[in-house]
Amino acid sequence: MVYITRREHFNAAHKLFKEDWSDQKNMEIFGKCSNPNWHGHNYDLFVTVKGEPNPTTGFVIDLKKLSKLINVLVIDKLDHKNLNLDVDFMKGRMASTEVLAIAIWEQIAPALKLEGSELHSVKLYETENNYVEYFG
Ligand code: NI
Repeated sequence: MVYITRREHFNAAHKLFKEDWSDQKNMEIFGKCSNPNWHGHNYDLFVTVKGEPNPTTGFVIDLKKLSKLINVLVIDKLDHKNLNLDVDFMKGRMASTEVLAIAIWEQIAPALKLEGSELHSVKLYETENNYVEYFG
């Protein structure tokens, strides 16, 4: 089994907050990420597909195709957007890195399956030091 990864990048605004909590409680739980007037992150997304190399091409997946699929289904909807307000697949969900990684998986796994490929993991860096991995 071979694992192949494509990295993509986007930046987006968000805030972490609960409507029914006071600003003070939101600040207590979510810290600076609860700033009422939003803030942004530069996200790095690593999408890993697993499989056996095709005997003819030697590819597990054509990386150009993988990149296009990720861009159409995910990056175009996230880049330069507000995760809380602009993104259809994040409506009503917490805009945390954890939830976003799950949502990205849900966007791309079925499309990859239709192409005959198997998604292994979604790894999402919110900062240099903080990242989430999701394996479905
Ligand atoms: Ni944040």
